Amino acid sequence: MTKLFKFLKPYTRWIILVLALTMVQAFSQLYLPDLMSEIVDKGVVGGDINFIIQTGLIMLAFSVVVSVATIIARLYGAKTGVAFARDLRRRIFVKVEGFSLHDFDQVGTSSLITRTTNDVTQVQNVMVMILTMMIFAPMMLIGGLIMALKTDIALSWIILVAAAVLGVVIGVVAGRGLPLFKSIQKKIDKVNLVLRESLTGIRVIRAFNKEKFEEARFEEANADLTGTSIKVFRIMSFMFPALMLIMNMTTVAIVWFGAHRIDSGAIQVGDMMAFQQYVMQIMFSIMMATMMFVMIPRASASAERILSVLNIENEVLEPKKPLEAKGSCGCVTFNNVSFSYKGAEKPVLKNISFEAKPGEITAIIGSTGSGKTSLVNLIPRFYDVSEGEVLVDGVDVREQGKEALRAKVGLVPQKISLFSGSIKENLQYGKSDATDAEVLSALKTAQASEFIDTLEDGINARVEQGGANFSGGQKQRLSIARALVRKPEIYIFDDSFSALDFKTDAKLRSALRKEIDHATVLIVAQRVSTVMNADRILVLDQGEIAGIGTHKELMKTCDVYKEIVASQLSEEELGDE
Ligand code: UTP
Ligand code: MG
Repeated sequence: MTKLFKFLKPYTRWIILVLALTMVQAFSQLYLPDLMSEIVDKGVVGGDINFIIQTGLIMLAFSVVVSVATIIARLYGAKTGVAFARDLRRRIFVKVEGFSLHDFDQVGTSSLITRTTNDVTQVQNVMVMILTMMIFAPMMLIGGLIMALKTDIALSWIILVAAAVLGVVIGVVAGRGLPLFKSIQKKIDKVNLVLRESLTGIRVIRAFNKEKFEEARFEEANADLTGTSIKVFRIMSFMFPALMLIMNMTTVAIVWFGAHRIDSGAIQVGDMMAFQQYVMQIMFSIMMATMMFVMIPRASASAERILSVLNIENEVLEPKKPLEAKGSCGCVTFNNVSFSYKGAEKPVLKNISFEAKPGEITAIIGSTGSGKTSLVNLIPRFYDVSEGEVLVDGVDVREQGKEALRAKVGLVPQKISLFSGSIKENLQYGKSDATDAEVLSALKTAQASEFIDTLEDGINARVEQGGANFSGGQKQRLSIARALVRKPEIYIFDDSFSALDFKTDAKLRSALRKEIDHATVLIVAQRVSTVMNADRILVLDQGEIAGIGTHKELMKTCDVYKEIVASQLSEEELGDE
């Protein structure tokens, strides 16, 4: 928790204001019972009406000061807490945006969402409380004690007894409640996880008739959270009446024993009333302090969860001094690259060396799981190589600025993601200032014009979240168009033609050839027909290169390639070559 305090720095001025006002508030409140006791003793008992009015007016003035100070202090305390929470959320978001794909798996998406929302709110609430009470409570406690002792030392044993009883009750309640508070956060995570999975997987759940199963799963997580929350509140509900009881018993004790003291002439009536008010102030401040002791551990659990996200060392670091690649031709070179995912035993890629040049198409083919996606993900530096180096324009990708590097790459990922908005907005993800003409031309090359012409709103037609209102092939073509609009030096198509029929596939590739003849093109594919005409074909087999060459060369030399071909192409098609 304390580690989060450093993020409060921009609000130092507000905090100082809050502290100053809190001090005003505390001093005024401590002075009020004193004045009241004078009114009773000198005014009421002594029968001095003018004194009563005068002192009464002073008390009124003090009360107004207290109220104004309290309102402003609370306002700025709340403002600080809320602004602090906003900054925290922003920090988490920016941090997460810089995550490598592996970092995401480490925390889990649903937990990231809880941490950015619920956990930050917990910390915010406590921060507001600290600001409004942390200074106030101890000041009232010490001030109240001094004033009470000044008023009558003989009665002060009552304070000791009351504080001891209060301490025991709070200790018992907090001891039982705290562990539960901590586990609540985890249970919220779980509910979020189940909810998220069932929302994103709703189609599969329906198709497999798993609604009942998912309901049960949600029910379990939900009941678990509810049960724990009820337990916490049951314990807490015991707290308030117990505290009220202690307070009232204390009042009775003060009146009882105070009356004897008044009787024997040791103190006056006003003194007893003032004493009683001081004791109430002391007890209130003890209660406030303990409330904080209850809330702070819960918020600390949240703070830890937030910090663990903020403290994740991004694996893919920005170089200290980014090197500018000289010239920008778009050459991609792999030198003896090996790569393994973190925590995996075996490397996914071993000793990969090849070169992809501008104006050429380099195709990568291989069975599923052979490492094709892993290979192309190394170019925009989604991951860092374990050994060897990946060069773009002759400079190691680790030496280049991430933004500059990625600006050179137009990626059509295997898993397509479109964003909610219009088609045009989605394409402008590739190039933010793309004009309608650029958008239309990219769509034309991607063979998407046909189906877009049938839409009423054309390029302004709506795209639902994740592109849910388009077919698989339509989504692929939109995703391709998004990369084309960018006009980068390097195109990467990761299995981007798989959902297209053969005819569209062929038409698209011939259009691409014309459109991007100057660029470096990498095509990942499963179909031999897609890669056959490439200038260079890379055959991947279990993360290793089984052969590099043109279709003709590989047919002679590479067994793995021959097998793939044999499994796909009929004899006549082969005869054409
Ligand atoms: P790839 O995703 O690189 O295979 O995973 P691929 O060739 O592109 O396969 P298809 O054609 O799209 O289906 C290669 C290996 O890396 C592991 C997978 O288990 C697979 O065996 N892998 C992949 C991970 O361990 N972690 C990941 O995040 C991704
Ligand atoms: Mg893949």
